[in-house]
Amino acid sequence: MESALDHHSARALLEWQVELGVTDAIVDTPVDRYALPDTAPKAKTSKAAQTPPPKTAKTDPVAVAKSAAASANSLDQLRAVMDGFEHCDLKRGARQLVFSDGTPGAPVMIVGEAPGREEDRAGKPFVGRAGQLLDRMLAAIDLDRTENVYITNVLPWRPPQNRDPKPEEIAMMTPFLERHIALAKPKALVAMGNISCQAILNKRGITRLRGNWDQALSLPVLPMLHPAYLLRQPHAKRQAWSDLLELRARLEGKT
Ligand code: URA
Repeated sequence: MESALDHHSARALLEWQVELGVTDAIVDTPVDRYALPDTAPKAKTSKAAQTPPPKTAKTDPVAVAKSAAASANSLDQLRAVMDGFEHCDLKRGARQLVFSDGTPGAPVMIVGEAPGREEDRAGKPFVGRAGQLLDRMLAAIDLDRTENVYITNVLPWRPPQNRDPKPEEIAMMTPFLERHIALAKPKALVAMGNISCQAILNKRGITRLRGNWDQALSLPVLPMLHPAYLLRQPHAKRQAWSDLLELRARLEGKT
C-alpha cells in the first residue's frame, strides 16, 4: 500500500509506536499466529540451572535455643539472647518480650503460661486480672513479688488472641525457661497450669497433678491451678488455698 506520509512523518510515527510498546510490524492481512510453527528460541538452560540447589540443613529452633540459652551467664544476658531469638513466630505478633518480674534469687519461682494483653503492654508477667488474683493468693501466705517471689512464663511473647501455645513453640522456648530457672536459683518452683506443667514436668492434667509435689531440674515443683482458671471457676479456689498452704509448709521446712 502506498503511504501518503513523508519519510520524517513516518519515522516520527514509528518512534511514537515503539514508545507505546509496539514490538511487531502490522501487515495488511491478518496473521493467525497460533497456526505458525513455534520458532521462538528456547531459553538455554545451563547444567547448573538444571541441578537442584544443594539441600541446606533446616534450622532446628530447639537446637538454636539450647545453644543461645547456654551462652547466657546472667539474667540480663538471658533476656538479651531471648530478645534476639528469631525462630518463634509469636515474637512478630507481640509488642515486646515479657521476661520476668519480682525478685531474682527469691525462694519461690512461679512459672505461668504466656503474657496476655496487659502483660504485652506492660512488659511484665501477671499484671492483668489473673496477676492481681495471683498477688492476693501470694499475700495470703506472706509472699510478695517485691520481696520473695520471682515470676516468669513459659512463653515470653503474647500468643495472638491469647490462643494456646503450640507444642513446637513450647519446645523451642523450654531451653530458655530451663536456663532462666538455673540462673534465678529458686528453692522451689510453682508450675501454674497445664502449659507450665508440660514445659517443666512434661506432664499434663493439672486437675490431677495440682497440689502434689513433683521434681524437675533438681528442684521441688508444685503444680497449681492457674489464676485465670480460678477467675472462671471460683469454686476451685478451695483447692488453690490448700495448695498455697502446702507451699507455705514446704518453705517453712515443715514438709
Ligand atoms: N497468664 C499467664 O500465664 N501469664 C501471665 O503473665 C499472665 C496471664
